[in-house]
Amino acid sequence: MNILVSGGAGYIGSVTVKQLLDEGHSVTVVDNLVKGRRELVDSRADFCEVDILDVKALDDVFSSSSFDAVVHFAAHKDAGESMVDVPKYSENIVGTINILNMMVKYDVGKMVFSSSAAVYGNPKYVPIDEEHPTEPINYYGMTKLVCEQKMEWYSKVHGIVCVSLRYFNVAGDKLGYIDPNASNVIPKILEVATGVRDKLLIFGDDYDTVDGTGVRDYIDVRDLAQAHILALKLDSSDQINLGTSEGTSVKELMDVMEELCGNSINHEVVGRREGDPASLTASYDKAYKVLGWKPVYGIKDMLDSMHKAYCQK
Ligand SMILES: NC(=O)c1ccc[n+]([C@@H]2O[C@H](COP(=O)([O-])OP(=O)(O)OC[C@H]3O[C@@H](n4cnc5c(N)ncnc54)[C@H](O)[C@@H]3O)[C@@H](O)[C@H]2O)c1
Repeated sequence: MNILVSGGAGYIGSVTVKQLLDEGHSVTVVDNLVKGRRELVDSRADFCEVDILDVKALDDVFSSSSFDAVVHFAAHKDAGESMVDVPKYSENIVGTINILNMMVKYDVGKMVFSSSAAVYGNPKYVPIDEEHPTEPINYYGMTKLVCEQKMEWYSKVHGIVCVSLRYFNVAGDKLGYIDPNASNVIPKILEVATGVRDKLLIFGDDYDTVDGTGVRDYIDVRDLAQAHILALKLDSSDQINLGTSEGTSVKELMDVMEELCGNSINHEVVGRREGDPASLTASYDKAYKVLGWKPVYGIKDMLDSMHKAYCQK
């Protein structure tokens, strides 16, 4: 297939671009490099430094080739920031509508969209399946939900097949990617392990979990990329969770890291953060049923691959 990948110079996009090329697809990347890095884009792909908010530039890209599908990653992704800068995060919605409008204009029939576990909000039960209510608790999650809703209408009215993949916590490395501004727990553990950060703050160790610390569902970026390739084969629109159904606590992450790097992870337990659920895991039953997808890599693979990238920095 001839595929346009928005945000293909970013963390997940660059790994997906490589896997698409390895499987024989043609790829054009559009990315404004606000977060992405040009050198992460595989040299076999065409690259256009374009902002998806720039309708004229986007039109030029769509008119330059006959695309079969779009894989749409480009977005801002910091849930905390979305609660202090709503206009910035509204760009997630505007950019998605711009792409959908181009797809109508140039008759591109398929979109795979990066959605998020953030569409669900606080879990009413775990593991979360796709029937779980969607009640985002941050504006970032709301932008993803609104995009999904827009896509439903483009699907109904224009017949575009739109598959929303709702990712849980993405981890692991394939291309030496390091986000210097990452605010989640795994990069912080790696920074402590490699001496960049003094200690890890653990927000609460009195949750009703295996060891009192928060439990999350981590999915390897290579497994995630593979799910996009499978989703391109679907002929009807859908929303699908991507997780492993398995949770890992903060202490368990630290234990694995200590085993891998041979040092203890300096840490301090502080109070719970408001709004943090004890446990957040995803059912991947639907992904298995609809896509034939299941995760291959475990938490040790993810931490090991990231540790190598951090050590080579
Ligand atoms: N990383 C995660 O844990 C996670 C979890 C759930 C969902 N997601 C979603 O997955 C997608 C990819 O995430 P990522 O972790 O690879 O993030 P990333 O920041 O590494 O990649 C996003 C890419 O989009 C580009 N971009 C942003 N705005 C753009 C614009 N207006 N025009 C063109 N390019 C633009 C950036 O330069 C970057 O290369 C995002 O939509 C994100 O919301 C990520």
